[in-house]
Amino acid sequence: MNKSTRHAVIAGNWKMNNDRAASKTLIDELKPLVANANCDVVICVPFTDLEISLNETKGTNIKVGAQNCHYEKSGAFTGEVSADMLKELGVSYVVLGHSERRQYFGETDATVNLRVKAAIEAGLNAIVCVGETLKDRENGITSELVIMQTKIALKDLTKQQMKNIIIAYEPVWAIGTGKTATADQAVEVCKIIRNTVSEMFGDDVSNALTIQYGGSMNPKNCEELLSKEDIDGGLIGGASLKASDFAEIVDAASNG
Ligand code: 13P
Repeated sequence: MNKSTRHAVIAGNWKMNNDRAASKTLIDELKPLVANANCDVVICVPFTDLEISLNETKGTNIKVGAQNCHYEKSGAFTGEVSADMLKELGVSYVVLGHSERRQYFGETDATVNLRVKAAIEAGLNAIVCVGETLKDRENGITSELVIMQTKIALKDLTKQQMKNIIIAYEPVWAIGTGKTATADQAVEVCKIIRNTVSEMFGDDVSNALTIQYGGSMNPKNCEELLSKEDIDGGLIGGASLKASDFAEIVDAASNG
């Protein structure tokens, strides 16, 4: 199995942007631009925009995701939202282990694993983020770190459950900085991730796994990144907030 048989997925991570009115405007602009996409199109929006996003995308090819979920089903976890709650609302994707959650909210590899398992058990597709900081890269531990993050995040999952997993390789130093990893740097790490998944679950699972690149992906650099054999999509921050930019990336993935 190769790239052409894998699912290309372009997901926008809006982060903490867009109120309800802005969400509606952006989705209205986006709908016609991506209607003929030959890849999956996902927008991962703030919790407060989930409902309007689900309503606005009804009957379209745009799927809606959240940006986190808790690992318990319910209970005394003030401020948290469970995977079941997202599923009940109609959400189909959730981003987990984003570096901003690791950096600002104490997310660890172990809690990422718990969240991944909860999301999959609830019937969500999980976009699991891994990636090194600049310091890690300078210390020459990128591959060790990404292997560790991948192994812990996917611990205890079954082959069947892996069908609902996407891994996003997001080098932290490339997020929101305008500094993109070169296509060669990106694909080198994406290959390491695929090999790790192969060791854990076998070639059939690793060959079918969608691996995204994320970190300053934009209309200018997306074509080269998405043309690489081991990059099956993108997790897009800044450029997902502008319909025309996001649509250009969707087009590149559709043709890639
Ligand atoms: P930018 O595209 O803004 O660099 O963000 C990437 C990202 O963090 C997506 O999750």
